[in-house]
Amino acid sequence: MRAVVVEQLGAPEVLTLREIPAPEPGPGQVLIDTAYAGINFAEIKARSVGYRVTTLPFVPGLEVSGLVRAVGAGVTGFRPGQQVAALLDTGGYAEAVVADAARTFAVPDGLGLRDAATLPSVLPTAYALVHHAGRLRAGETVLVQGAAGGVGTALGQVARLAGAARVYGVVSHPDKAKYALDFGYDEVFVGADFDEQVARATGGRGVDLLLDPVGGDTWRRGVASLARYGRAVSYGNAGDAEPWSAGFADLAAKALSVSAFSILGLAAADPQALRDLTETAFGLAAADGVRLPVTAEFPLEQAAEAHRLVESRSSTGKLLLRVNGD
Ligand SMILES: NC(=O)c1ccc[n+]([C@@H]2O[C@H](COP(=O)([O-])OP(=O)(O)OC[C@H]3O[C@@H](n4cnc5c(N)ncnc54)[C@H](OP(=O)(O)O)[C@@H]3O)[C@@H](O)[C@H]2O)c1
Repeated sequence: MRAVVVEQLGAPEVLTLREIPAPEPGPGQVLIDTAYAGINFAEIKARSVGYRVTTLPFVPGLEVSGLVRAVGAGVTGFRPGQQVAALLDTGGYAEAVVADAARTFAVPDGLGLRDAATLPSVLPTAYALVHHAGRLRAGETVLVQGAAGGVGTALGQVARLAGAARVYGVVSHPDKAKYALDFGYDEVFVGADFDEQVARATGGRGVDLLLDPVGGDTWRRGVASLARYGRAVSYGNAGDAEPWSAGFADLAAKALSVSAFSILGLAAADPQALRDLTETAFGLAAADGVRLPVTAEFPLEQAAEAHRLVESRSSTGKLLLRVNGD
């Protein structure tokens, strides 16, 4: 089968199309003919700095949609030809992939395979950030970094559905701000002085919930923009800063809470919790109209182009690789 292989870490050019043997489903696994693979920022970190990479060479790709080709021993509830979406540790940039049955989900009614490929990582992450880690209550205010991206466009909508009073976003460019306003945001701030804009927009009070995938100074300024009893959830380190830490002196004066979330961490630690979360989150797309906008689609052999686009920080919404899709 054709797959995009990384033999050594580096720039997008290391994504190379190769013929490799198709995988076989082991016990508890599902073999999927990939229709589309979602592009995730974590795959860029895997390719460039080896984030969560355990062996070289490897095939990147954390989420796919496609058709079940076969199931391994002990798997019930899936049949050949069924439309599914799956969350993977790796391997999605390929014509076929094996996924754990526990992380494989029927495509919700009313959605096609193209839309389904955008869901497995982004939507459960957004749901968990808003409802579980962030514990958003109706009437509260939220600040989201990276508001125009894949997770960011979902977060604006999920926070609004959860009853947020005001949803603020932060992006790096005015075009992205305009774009994000279509996805649940009331106001989108541009650039590193977003904390001044938060202070202005909230009359100096600050926000109740910060959702941050960037880290470093962005994280610190975000935490400083919280209102009393505010909560901050870290879910990425796009800026490659040193890991953050927070102690009594940082938190006590405003009684702040900080936490972190990782969907792959949850998937490894508690597959049933991931399943419950994902099924609930998929309901937002099927029943509540949450949209995950696909803004660019590339054939498998152009995976490097997709990575370049995200790294250039000019991408918005969700990017896909078209593998066997229409
Ligand atoms: N913890 C989890 O479970 C989990 C799950 C999925 C995703 N994530 C994290 O969520 C974030 C968004 O993921 P995504 O796949 O949806 O990607 P994405 O948002 O489509 O693209 C990357 C985003 O990172 C922002 N960014 C900030 N600093 C950057 C930098 N130095 N270089 C490149 N981009 C930078 C960009 O926004 P601006 O240019 O507007 O700043 C852009 O929105 C990532 O940090 C990812 O690791 C975490």
